[in-house]
Amino acid sequence: MYKELIEKAYEVRESAYAPYSNFKVGAALLTKDDKIFTGCNVECASFGGTNCAERTALFKAISEGYREFKAIAVVGKKGVLTPPCGICRQVLNEFANDIDVVLDDNNKEKIIKLNELLPYSFGPNDL
Ligand code: THU
Repeated sequence: MYKELIEKAYEVRESAYAPYSNFKVGAALLTKDDKIFTGCNVECASFGGTNCAERTALFKAISEGYREFKAIAVVGKKGVLTPPCGICRQVLNEFANDIDVVLDDNNKEKIIKLNELLPYSFGPNDL
């Protein structure tokens, strides 16, 4: 169902800058009108400056004027499940509470709703 999205996530993973963890991650975010924004993790010698792949993709999309999304694919090592971290779940939730999160589970697509990954979330409607 999301074959192309997973492929794009693996492609952009090649660009990951991860000299400290050596853990490369790629993400591909699908907009409501079927445009794809990709992102990789970008690490920093001051570790707190690191940006995850999911947020790189999301920030690229938001800064190009896209705010409505259907799905995001996240991949790490080939075929190994790489679920999004807590910070990325929270930041994605800001724009896309009900999107499909697409993971590579032993070379099979695993699709989970973001709101299943982040139940009882605090979001824009709670302020
Ligand atoms: N990382 C991501 O890019 N996305 C996640 O959801 C999990 C963690 C990155 C951050 C860091 O560069 C490396 O993986 C190890 O934590």
